[in-house]
Amino acid sequence: MGHEIKRIGILTGGGDCPGLNAVIRGVVKSASNLYQWEIIGIEDGFEGLMIGKVRPLNQENIKGILTVGGTILGTSNRGNPFDFVDTDGVKKDLSSVVLENIKRLSLDGLIVVGGDGSLSIANQLYKMGAPVVGVPKTIDNDLSVTDVTFGFDTAVNTARDALDRLRSTAESHHRVIVLELMGRYAGWIALHAGIAGGADVILIPEIPYDIGKVCDKMRSRFHGKSGFGIVVVAEGAKPLGGDVVTQAPAGKGRLERLGGVGNKVGDNIAMCLGPEGVDVRVTVLGHIQRGGSPSAFDRILSTRFGHEAVELIARGDFGKMVALKGQDIVPVKLEEAVSRMRSVPPEGQLVKTAEAIGVSFGR
Ligand code: F6P
Repeated sequence: MGHEIKRIGILTGGGDCPGLNAVIRGVVKSASNLYQWEIIGIEDGFEGLMIGKVRPLNQENIKGILTVGGTILGTSNRGNPFDFVDTDGVKKDLSSVVLENIKRLSLDGLIVVGGDGSLSIANQLYKMGAPVVGVPKTIDNDLSVTDVTFGFDTAVNTARDALDRLRSTAESHHRVIVLELMGRYAGWIALHAGIAGGADVILIPEIPYDIGKVCDKMRSRFHGKSGFGIVVVAEGAKPLGGDVVTQAPAGKGRLERLGGVGNKVGDNIAMCLGPEGVDVRVTVLGHIQRGGSPSAFDRILSTRFGHEAVELIARGDFGKMVALKGQDIVPVKLEEAVSRMRSVPPEGQLVKTAEAIGVSFGR
């Protein structure tokens, strides 16, 4: 091990999710109980590291955060130091400023809690010599090297709760209700929530749908005894030969904003079944999936990730990310963690199970 650790920093980057505060708490408690390190909280993700917006964290000022959604440090998905876009729209590489600030703040270790975007930045900084470790966060669960990311379980439970509520009103009114869920280009939230919430149709990006098949499935629900139908649509779902529906194009260091496919699918079903007297309604759950108190599973996972990130720093094992593999938290290379996205296997067990119980994926 190179040198003694005295002071570490932590930042939360990218879209927020339930469990970020539980990670911060796990880090602060482990680092101060086990090693008596000083902990510096960096505000608003990498933006805070570019402009030196920081504050000390200790056991006193993190009290009560375990159950709270969001992040007490704030976050941002605009502050990529390698591709920073200033207010005049001019692109700049501010990575050297970040490295200087890490030195100026005397950070012997930096914990980056983020999804693929923030962890890619962390990896680039590591390659330039920064003592970085990562913690995988995202409701989308689309990171390949961990069995699960924290935030996913809470988002699935929120979506499942929405489905339970939609089911009772759909059944009362004999309607089709379409629920659009987040997940970006992965269908994990829709698949898990759809199965847990008893959906009849689940549309995910990994299985392009044939709207005719979706209508057939819904028609069978009305010709049989059921008389109502629940369709779950991942925001990244697309029809066979078609493309995703977006709200806003990519730009200024931002990814395209997905959204709207729920309405498109709802309109399509109304066109097929409206003439047969079937009413269709659409709900878009949106950022409700990102907020709120983390589930017990996410609180435990976040706490374990926070502690193990501290242990990586204590061992001088930089350039790594903590990951859940089976029952254990293990280190994996950041490089590997960001190299490939995790998609739903279209022929995997979970999809097959859903199909076996009669769920249609529109194929
Ligand atoms: O990655 C998490 C996520 O919530 C996606 O599921 C969604 O597509 C995106 O972020 C929304 O981002 P924003 O909050 O910037 O609109």
